[in-house]
Amino acid sequence: SIIDPLLRTGYHFQPRKNWINDPNAPLYYKGWYHLFYQYNPKGAVWGNIVWAHSVSRDLINWMALKPAIEPSIASDKYGCWSGSATMLPDGTPTIMYTGVNRPDVNYQVQNVAYPRNKSDPLLREWDKPSHNPIIVPKAGINATQFRDPTTAWRAGGHWRLLIGSVTGPAHGVAYVYRSRDFKRWTRVERPLHSAATGMWECPDFYPVEAAGRREGLDTSVSGRRARKYVLKNSLDLRRYDYYTVGTYDRRAERYVPDDPAGDERHLRYDYGNFYASKTFYDPAKRRRILWGWANESDTSADDVAKGWAGIQAIPRTVWLDPSGKQLLQWPIEEVEALRGKSVTVKHRVIKPGQHVEVTGLQTAQADVEVTFEVSSLAGAESLDPELAGDAQRLCGARGAAVEGGVGPFGLWVLASADRQERTAVFFRVFRPARGGDKPVVLMCTDPTKSSLNPNLYQPTFAGFVDTDISDGKISLRSLIDRSVVESFGAGGKTCILSRVYPSLATGKNARLYVFNGGKADVKVSRLTAWEMKKPLMNGA
Ligand code: FRU
Repeated sequence: SIIDPLLRTGYHFQPRKNWINDPNAPLYYKGWYHLFYQYNPKGAVWGNIVWAHSVSRDLINWMALKPAIEPSIASDKYGCWSGSATMLPDGTPTIMYTGVNRPDVNYQVQNVAYPRNKSDPLLREWDKPSHNPIIVPKAGINATQFRDPTTAWRAGGHWRLLIGSVTGPAHGVAYVYRSRDFKRWTRVERPLHSAATGMWECPDFYPVEAAGRREGLDTSVSGRRARKYVLKNSLDLRRYDYYTVGTYDRRAERYVPDDPAGDERHLRYDYGNFYASKTFYDPAKRRRILWGWANESDTSADDVAKGWAGIQAIPRTVWLDPSGKQLLQWPIEEVEALRGKSVTVKHRVIKPGQHVEVTGLQTAQADVEVTFEVSSLAGAESLDPELAGDAQRLCGARGAAVEGGVGPFGLWVLASADRQERTAVFFRVFRPARGGDKPVVLMCTDPTKSSLNPNLYQPTFAGFVDTDISDGKISLRSLIDRSVVESFGAGGKTCILSRVYPSLATGKNARLYVFNGGKADVKVSRLTAWEMKKPLMNGA
């Protein structure tokens, strides 16, 4: 079994023990970042859900406080589920969350909570006013699938928020509720948006600055700066978060994705293990930050033996790509403060079939940035038309061990000295698909050789990278942290988080390699790897 303490992450957010899931109500208040999250105080499996609470000055070092919201009133007696924070115009943070109010079925209503003491920057105590619940599922709404209120936004004297649900046979839906006073909320008849995807959990909806501009916008910003919006939903059936970029018509309370096929294309924040995410606007650094939950990929029995399950991904700054068609994501700059000893490799050609070890530092807990340059794209594989639209299946069929033309090339991380264990993070380049003129770039994480331990869930994860590789150049960054590998392709166009549980490649025995499994030379123009220090992590 995998109870090796060396598998516990070092710099990813985790409580000292027990089960965690969704990040809730991230916010910034009086110099402190707050993170609440779904937590089981009694064990390492889902259940007994309360809102655990941690605070930080830098989003990296965390201090655990006592749970902020626990079952205590009729409308949350059987669970305090996910929700969001909204800053009122006078600067008061409020929390809106889903309460389960029946023991037999998961009947869901929405509650509000206010800080007891606004002068406490740590916001330790939260009060639930007597007018709770503030929103209940009226006729026509599926009361057992009605949850996860968003941050509210304000315009024209009204607040609005979204609640995720499902209607008809399988239409994910985001209902809009409006209020003047934050107390009485009424539903707008037509939902903001809906699509044939199954239940929408944890919706998130926010304005973004013009394409290519990194600055974030407050959720309530309107007018010219907020021309584009992002709508994200967590797909209960498929367990991933997808988003579209589009426009928001305030008067009609409707959202329309720019790409009419956006709801079928399923652009994802992350093509790996990343769910129930939520963004918030950070007024201190004027950026929008994304938090997402990464579940374990071991067995639940192993989780119980370890005594913990679940981490939060490293917070990411998100902004609109210059193309306007997708988001870019990058680990918040604060994470770089954890960088210690480093090694740099420059202008190193990796021949076909070759691998090169990066030596001179420990890499079980590391940050690696690398730029590759492919010598020629002439030998790129052709793309099987059947798999052309399906990155996941393509990577399943052409994993890291299948020789290609241009690629697979990339990193073997958390590798053992004999390379029996290794997790591959790599690219593979294909000739332009029929009708296209750009080479197709696939980014993939292949954990099928990550561990000698049996009973692990080891899916390959993959996404296409919408980048122009005609100059042969592409970059990769991987945050490696003992049992997680979180990778950012082409400056954050495509991201993949994967959980792995090596048995040999732990602690000092974890190694890092660059590999080339294609037929064309690949040059490492520059690679820098840093050892990562351990921040304060909730007293662990
Ligand atoms: C998503 C989710 C939410 C719900 C919470 C319960 O992971 O199912 O929809 O509010 O978790 O813990």
